[in-house]
Amino acid sequence: MCGIISYLGNRKTAGKLVVDGLKKLEYRGYDSFGFAEKVNGKIRLTKKVGKISEFRENGKTFAKTNLALGHTRWATHGKVNRVNAHPHFSADGKVVVVHNGIVENHAELRKFLRGKGVKFVTETDTEVIPNLIVEFLKKNNLKEAVRKTAQKLRGRFAFVAIVAGEEKLCAARNGSPLILGIEKFFPKSDDKLLAKIDGSAFFIASDTPAFLNHTPDVVYLDDGEMVEIEASPKQDHFHAQFFGITKGTAVKKRIISLDLKESKTEKGDFAHFMLKEIFEQKETIHRALKQDEKQLEKVAQLIRKSFGTFFIGCGTAGKVCATAEYLFAKIARRHVNVIFGSEFDTQEPFLTNKTLLIAVSQSGETADVLEAYKIAKRRGVKTVGVVNVAGSSVARGSDVVLPVNAGVEKAVASTKATTAQLAILTLLAYALAGKLAEGQQMLAEAGSQIDELLNPRYSEHLEKIAQKIKRVESMYVIGKGTDYPMALEAAIKLQEVSYIHAEGFAAGELKHGPLALITKGTPLIAFVPADRSLGVGGPANGYRQEVLSNVSEVKARGGRIIGVSPQNDPLFDEWIRVPDVGNAQPIVNIIPIQLLAYHLAVLRKNNPDLPRNLAKSVTVK
Ligand code: G6P
Repeated sequence: MCGIISYLGNRKTAGKLVVDGLKKLEYRGYDSFGFAEKVNGKIRLTKKVGKISEFRENGKTFAKTNLALGHTRWATHGKVNRVNAHPHFSADGKVVVVHNGIVENHAELRKFLRGKGVKFVTETDTEVIPNLIVEFLKKNNLKEAVRKTAQKLRGRFAFVAIVAGEEKLCAARNGSPLILGIEKFFPKSDDKLLAKIDGSAFFIASDTPAFLNHTPDVVYLDDGEMVEIEASPKQDHFHAQFFGITKGTAVKKRIISLDLKESKTEKGDFAHFMLKEIFEQKETIHRALKQDEKQLEKVAQLIRKSFGTFFIGCGTAGKVCATAEYLFAKIARRHVNVIFGSEFDTQEPFLTNKTLLIAVSQSGETADVLEAYKIAKRRGVKTVGVVNVAGSSVARGSDVVLPVNAGVEKAVASTKATTAQLAILTLLAYALAGKLAEGQQMLAEAGSQIDELLNPRYSEHLEKIAQKIKRVESMYVIGKGTDYPMALEAAIKLQEVSYIHAEGFAAGELKHGPLALITKGTPLIAFVPADRSLGVGGPANGYRQEVLSNVSEVKARGGRIIGVSPQNDPLFDEWIRVPDVGNAQPIVNIIPIQLLAYHLAVLRKNNPDLPRNLAKSVTVK
C-alpha cells in the first residue's frame, strides 16, 4: 500500500539506490511512481504513470547525488496520473515529501493552508504535508517542523521529507511502517539502546527488501516516533537521531540484524513470484512446523484460560482464520470466534481482560488488524500474532508471537504464507487438545505429500484445465467443514489474479440461491473429501456423499464439474487429485487452486504478481 524509500549517505548514486529499492517495493503499489534527487541545493523530480519495474533507465536518468527519496503508489486520493504521483512539493518548491497512509483531516488542513495563500496542484491528501512543513519552517528547524506537522495529521501515516538547501532526511511514523537501514554501523559504545546511531549511510523505507542487499542492520520506528538523518559535524559520516512526536525528546532504539538473504527475494528461474512461492510450499510447510513448543503450549494455555478467543485476519488471512472454527471444534472440541479485522470493533462490548485475540497476518502491517490491536490494548485483551514478517507491527505488538517462517512473500496473492498459517493453526488445535506430537506427525506427513504433489506435471495438468475454462465469465467453488473457508479462499485467489468472477459457498447452501446462476458449462470447483473422513458430528462415511449430492444438483443443470478430491467420481468432468491427509486437508486442497488461478492469469495475459487495483500490504482502513 504505497512503498517509500529514501537514502542519505556517502554514495553519490542515491537516485539509482532509491529506484532499485522501489522496484523491490513494487508489491505495495504500482499505479505510478516517482523520485526526487537533491542536486546543487535544488531538487530534481522524475514521475511517471505505470509500474516502476517497466521504467527504463539511461545515462541521463540519475543525477550525481547522495540524497534522494522515492515512492511507488497505490492511489487512495486522486486519480492515477502524473500530477498525483509522489513525491509532492510544497507550493514554494522547497520541501518534498513521500507518504504512505491517509491524512484523514486533509480537507480541513487544505482550508487552513489556502488561508495562508497556498495553491494546491494535486488531488492528493499528501500535498498538505510539505505545505505544513513550510509553514512550521518559518519559526523552526526541519526536525521541529516535521514534528509539528506530524502532530497535525489525523489517520495512519509514514512520511519522509527533505528540504532544498539542507543535507538532511526527516521521517515520521504513526500507523504505517517505517524502517531505518544502517549501512556500516560505527558503534561508539556497547549500549544496545541508542538515541543516536552513526553510520556511512542510511535508508528509510516501508519494508526491508528495499535495502536488504545493502545492509541487514535495521531499526523499526514505532508509532509516534520520528528520525532525522544528517552529516556528522566533521562531515566524514552520517548519523540518525530518534525523537518522540509528542514531546520531541530523544527516544532510544535497538538495532536488529536481520538474517534474511536478499537472494531469497528474487524470482530465480520462475516466470513469476506467484509460481515460485507456490512451489516453495514444498519446504515452507516443514518450516512452519518448526515452532517453539513452549510458545505453542503457552498459547494453548491462554486459549484454555480465556473467556472468548477471537481469531482475526483480513483477506486470505481472514479465510485462514475461518478454518480455525472448524479445526478447533474437531480437534480440540473448543469453540472459538472468527471475525475479519475490519469488523472486530463491533465486538468491543464483549472484550475484557479475559478475552484472547489471535491475529493472523502475513505482513503484520494490515491497518484493520492494527486497529483491532488498539482496541485490544484498550480493553486489556491478550494478543497472539501468527505473523510472517518478523519485526512487523503485529509481531512487535503481540504478547506472544508464532512465526510463520514462510520467508519473504512478494506476489500480492498470498500462497505459501497461507498454507504455513493453516499449518500453525492446525498445530495449535492439536496443542490445545494435548496431542501436539500427533499433530506434528500428521502435518509433517502432509508436508511430504505436498513435496510429491508439486511437480511440473501437476502444474501442466492445472494449466490444461485453465485452458478449457479461461473464457468463462463466472465460476463457483464449494466445500463443507474446513473446505468451506477454503472455497472462499479459492474464490479470492481466482478473482485476484484471473479477474474471473468467482464465488465460494458452503456446499449445502448452493440449493438455497446460487444454483439459479448455473447455466450450461458454468465451472463448479468442488472440494470433495475422501470416503473415510469424519466431520464434526458428520455421518459415519464422512461428507463425501453429501457434497457429491450437491455436485450432482449442479451437474444436472449443465455445470462443468472440477472435483478436487483424493478419489475420482463419475460426476467429475475434470479431476484434480489431492492426497488424503486428514486434518491437513485444507492445506493440500488450496494448492491446486493456487496453481489454477496462476495459469488462468497467465493465459488471460494478466500479471499474476501485481493484480490490478490491489496491493500486498493494506496499510489504510
Ligand atoms: C491484502 C492482500 C491479501 C492479504 C490481505 C491481508 O488484501 O492483497 O493477499 O491476504 O491483504 O494481509 P496480511 O498481510 O494481513 O496477511
